[in-house]
Amino acid sequence: MPVEAVRYAEGAIELIDQTRLPGEFVLKRIEDLEALCEAIRVLRVRGAPAIGVAAAYGFRLEAERFLREGGDKIEALRQRMLRTGETLAATRPTARNLFTTVERMTRVAQAPANHTRDLVARIARETDAIHAEDRALCEAIARHGAELLPQSARVLTHCNAGALATGGIGTALGVVYAAVRQGKVVQVFADETRPLLQGARLTAWELEKSGVPVTLLCDNAAASLLAQRDIDCVVVGADRIARNGDTANKIGTLAVAIAARRFAVPFYVAAPSTTFDLALSTGAEIPIEQRPAEEVAAGFGRATAPAGVAVFNPAFDVTPSDLIAAIIHEGGVVRPPYERTIPDSLAQLNVEDPLARARSSPAAEE
Ligand code: MRU
Repeated sequence: MPVEAVRYAEGAIELIDQTRLPGEFVLKRIEDLEALCEAIRVLRVRGAPAIGVAAAYGFRLEAERFLREGGDKIEALRQRMLRTGETLAATRPTARNLFTTVERMTRVAQAPANHTRDLVARIARETDAIHAEDRALCEAIARHGAELLPQSARVLTHCNAGALATGGIGTALGVVYAAVRQGKVVQVFADETRPLLQGARLTAWELEKSGVPVTLLCDNAAASLLAQRDIDCVVVGADRIARNGDTANKIGTLAVAIAARRFAVPFYVAAPSTTFDLALSTGAEIPIEQRPAEEVAAGFGRATAPAGVAVFNPAFDVTPSDLIAAIIHEGGVVRPPYERTIPDSLAQLNVEDPLARARSSPAAEE
């Protein structure tokens, strides 16, 4: 595996501080919920699946701390876990994986237990399971996605959907790593990804470290590159995918998808089931995070625009599903019509459909 973005060690979360890359490789030790929330907000840890894994460990930090502080009432621990979930959920709104984790850990915290110690142990096991599952999901996505790449492939990607963004080898870049493992020759073209440069700082760094040839381009060169017609496909990750396949991903993804369609280059999305939100019928319902103006007007501490200029800085955009040739999840490669193929393929994986759950819950029957 190229790098490990997040891990839990000796009662703390250890993160690669992604704000410091590529200049410095710094491991940041996170010992409390407040520090974790700060790390998520400022993108020390980022990428939808990695945020989901880090959030799981946030529950574990808080639960173990509860024990250390002498907490012995199960109900108090459950309340603490509810508050932990609310605090984590308020950090960033778009990536579905964060909420998938919060919902799952909150359910575990409500499970029957005789003693706080047992419940804390159960919470700790669940966090390990979430991380191990994310690794396995990445591997499965990578395997399925690699089949879509020709023997000699030129792949364009946007943002960073690699090991740095997940608990495993990555989603979009996982596809690349798996293809390379299969003996394919892959050349990656990485959009630099304004304003926070995840493509330049992270994707280029991670691919170079893994020995995969990478060429960096400005976001505004992507259409020209696609117009040359020697890119085989675009592969990107996702932050949230609605029931109809509309996909939220890093700002700029939509422009790449439009250009790819114009020049007949297949546009693929690679994401685990934990990124799908079946409760949303279209992408119009996906909450889009707005980020501070300074990221655009004074990125990395240097003013590049007049002070106080009005700025439009959404962190994500939504690519309509009709621009997406296929979505790769751990169950395989899903193609249109997504309204049917997404729910069907996720049902085969036993992923809960919130609509079905809502319809069959006692509250809905009343
Ligand atoms: O703001 P970021 O860096 O968290 O945005 C990340 C992305 O948009 C990724 O493409 C997405 O989360 C998929 S990561 C496997």
